[in-house]
Amino acid sequence: MKKKAEELVDLIYKSPTSFHAVETCRSILLSSGFEEINIEDSWSLDKGGRYFTVQNGSSLFAFRIGKKLADARFKIVGCHTDSPGLKVKPNPEMLSCGYLKINTEIYGGAVLNTWFDRPLSLAGRVYIKNKKKLAPLCRLVNINKPVAVLPNLAMHMNREVNKGVAIDNQKDILPVIRTVEADFEKDNFLLKLIAERLSVEVDDIIDFELYFYEYEKGRVIGLEEEFISSGRIDDLEAVFAGLDGIVNSAECEDSVNLLACFDNEEVGSSSKQGADSQLLSHLMERIVFAVSGEASNARENFLRAIPKSFIISVDGAHSVHPNKPEKSDPLNRPVINSGPVIKISANQKYTSDADSISVYKCLSEIAGVPYQIFVNHSNEKGGSTIGPINSTHLEMKAIDVGAPMFAMHSIREMCGVKDHSELIKLITSFYESEL
Ligand code: CO
Repeated sequence: MKKKAEELVDLIYKSPTSFHAVETCRSILLSSGFEEINIEDSWSLDKGGRYFTVQNGSSLFAFRIGKKLADARFKIVGCHTDSPGLKVKPNPEMLSCGYLKINTEIYGGAVLNTWFDRPLSLAGRVYIKNKKKLAPLCRLVNINKPVAVLPNLAMHMNREVNKGVAIDNQKDILPVIRTVEADFEKDNFLLKLIAERLSVEVDDIIDFELYFYEYEKGRVIGLEEEFISSGRIDDLEAVFAGLDGIVNSAECEDSVNLLACFDNEEVGSSSKQGADSQLLSHLMERIVFAVSGEASNARENFLRAIPKSFIISVDGAHSVHPNKPEKSDPLNRPVINSGPVIKISANQKYTSDADSISVYKCLSEIAGVPYQIFVNHSNEKGGSTIGPINSTHLEMKAIDVGAPMFAMHSIREMCGVKDHSELIKLITSFYESEL
């Protein structure tokens, strides 16, 4: 169990942005016999084959086609590659009182006070001039050094600090990156930093998307080494549990096993690489077409495959907080390391219903994995996942599940070593079972 947890910490460390998360997955898939196929190419897919495709460099879909697939159906694990954070704005350099600061925009619902006083680094993607002018080259960049910090105000300058501090996104979330003596030092500071890291000329950089991330690596913690403390557990824990499942599960002969890792869940999923797109639907249709050959009823086969399919949307769940138990439902209170959590919402913020929960409970029994139940405290609004959004595009049975955790959307979250292994076991069993 500890090995899987340490592996997760390593994988998250290599994945400071959704682009890097996809790149980490890509290298594992390539070394596990998966073939990369491009969305714009014509596909010829084999039964028994392992494939993956990437959209926008930040969403990834890996799938295995059953050797004896006759009547197409999909077993899908859905998750997301993005996490809340600080995105660098265009022309970001700002001078203030002898310091150079970087202007940022907040991506998603970050717990901002946790971003203060931490060594921060920068990573993202950069577009570089190409000979073919309208096809610029994309390069990933990771500065991989602690280069900035968001300093807190000293206690002596705000005696009220422990009563809670309101954060002004535009005024306060400006990481300090260095001291400066002269104005000219600020010119293109960030572009120069990226150019140096990528060994290209500043003039060759056309544009970039950069994010700050916590430089310190996560780790397995606790006297009994039972917890994982790291950034981006939501939702990279699920991404890498899903990846482990699809790579290492035994052959399932009669279905298509698919891992869908979407970007932009934290900002509502409405993008061409998000769950609120036709991406997964188109992908499934193309898979059915490719395995149906010249069959004239391929379209019907696809439409029939949807209701026969099942998706487990895997995303972080809330453990009861031992210092704030009143924030949880009085009866249904997940605890870290007591098993993956089924998330339920009467208002369809989660997809789980008695129909899908019944299937899932039977699956848990087959896998030998315990389950817990989460439902919001009735006065709390709670969150959502890709599950309900996906359901508006693909009318298949669906359930929302996730590892219980503390401090969701903090720069440093915490989940359980045992739960991570249990989730891998559960997903593996799902891929190996017949629907
Ligand atoms: Co999430």
